Amino acid sequence: MKLRKILMTAGLLLATTTALATPATDELFARYKAEGATGFDAGRGDKAWHKESKGTEGQMMSCTSCHGPDLGKEGKHHKTNKVIGPMAPSVNKERFTDAKKIEKWFKRNCNDVLARECTAQEKGDYLKFLLGK
Ligand code: HEC
Repeated sequence: MKLRKILMTAGLLLATTTALATPATDELFARYKAEGATGFDAGRGDKAWHKESKGTEGQMMSCTSCHGPDLGKEGKHHKTNKVIGPMAPSVNKERFTDAKKIEKWFKRNCNDVLARECTAQEKGDYLKFLLGK
């Protein structure tokens, strides 16, 4: 009886915990810290994710321009209309599992939206926010 209770509790914990890290994001958080970032903040990432800025093409953009308003749903590239899989790791298990891929898209997408590369601090905050989804 006791064992069953423990197992049930463990199952419940697993079911309610979203992926707050992957080996790839652990690696990146460590790298960003080595590059001078100090602690990562999901709230700051949330704000930055939704903030509009003038992108490389001179139009107002935010991360939601392509990834959509709901991270649990598909997004759509603002120009090509190509479907982008949901960003939330709770519904898309392939998210944030490859450090190289993450860095490649940060480079491209930060330029699209901010017309510059993101700092280590900004990237860590975005990741912290996204991992909780
Ligand atoms: C111009 C369209 C566009 C905008 C704007 C955009 N993204 Fe993306 N993003 C993509 C595409 C396309 C992919 C790659 C396809 C995929 O991963 O499903 C991607 C992938 C990513 C990935 C990789 C995810 C993974 O699983 O490895 C990250 C991280 C990311 N974007 C962050 C951002 C952030 C942060 C912003 C805002 C600064 C942003 N994106 C804005 C189009 C965009």
